[in-house]
Amino acid sequence: MSTLIILSFLLLLRGLHLHHAAIFEIINQCPYTIWAAAIPGGGQSLVSGQNWTINVNARMDEARIWARTGCTFNDSGHGNCQTGDCNGLLECQTYGTPPNTLARFTLNGFNNLDFIDISLAEGFNVPMEFSPTAGCDQRIISCAADIKGQCPTELQSPGGCNDPCTVFQTDEYCCNSARNAVGLSPVTWDTTVVAYAQNYANQRIGDCQLVHSGGPYGENIFWGSGAEFTAADAVNSWVSEKQYYDYASNTCAAGKVCGHYTQVVWKSSTSIGCAGVKCNNGAIFIICNYKPAGNIIGQRPY
Ligand SMILES: *[C@@H]1O[C@H](CO)[C@@H](O)[C@H](O)[C@H]1NC(C)=O
Ligand SMILES: *[C@@H]1O[C@H](CO)[C@@H](O)[C@H](O)[C@H]1NC(C)=O
Repeated sequence: MSTLIILSFLLLLRGLHLHHAAIFEIINQCPYTIWAAAIPGGGQSLVSGQNWTINVNARMDEARIWARTGCTFNDSGHGNCQTGDCNGLLECQTYGTPPNTLARFTLNGFNNLDFIDISLAEGFNVPMEFSPTAGCDQRIISCAADIKGQCPTELQSPGGCNDPCTVFQTDEYCCNSARNAVGLSPVTWDTTVVAYAQNYANQRIGDCQLVHSGGPYGENIFWGSGAEFTAADAVNSWVSEKQYYDYASNTCAAGKVCGHYTQVVWKSSTSIGCAGVKCNNGAIFIICNYKPAGNIIGQRPY
């Protein structure tokens, strides 16, 4: 266990259940200097063993903390980093550039719950641990292995390992090409919405019925049997409705369905969360939720 911690960039989440703030202690347990970054929070260099504390508002969506490596900054905090760079600033005001391992959190999200995760959706640069130190569930989330050595050649990047979407920019790896095709900005992955989707998918394990959840978000659901369907398969099936949709008249061809497609390209639905389950009968149930909900009658998607 101590080996894991020595190699990790460690995050401790303190006092989650205070009403007005949560305190994050960010500790560099790597044997080298990292430049920690947080949105909200900014950034700071940390030599091995050093820590940095940030206070975060107790109602917070899509916050993230990450490590930058290989940085140089001048006295006014301008420079650059090999991984995780945020527009060349020591004190970040924007998310970092891949590859960067991400610790993400939402405080007081769906059902007033807090959500934390470690994500490699934007690649990998340093191992991380993330754990609450107060509250009822104090399990440690750990992504302790340094996987740079196992990085496929195509994904290798100085100081890290890229995610495939960053490198290949294809439908298969990114979920935004249907939106790109009509000139929309990408959606962001929202841990609160993911939790909602997962909670509902779990309720369908027993019957696998294509029944909507009736919740606050936009929603597309998918059912498939006989193969290991993925979220990409589900999204492709929804986007295939594009051929029936006529933008000029904002109508769908007779006898066809376009609503899954129009939700995918609904301009104001900027956050997304998806989840899938294998049902007891072996079929796959996949749900994506969109926030705020699209498909408002009488409006065009974009
Ligand atoms: C953070 O650093 C301070 C000052 O060096 C030290 O007193 C404190 O114990 C450290 N906290 C943790 C959790 O390591
Ligand atoms: C640091 O770099 C920035 C951007 O290159 C420059 O504008 C600024 O004057 C520099 N500051 C110092 C103190 O060198």
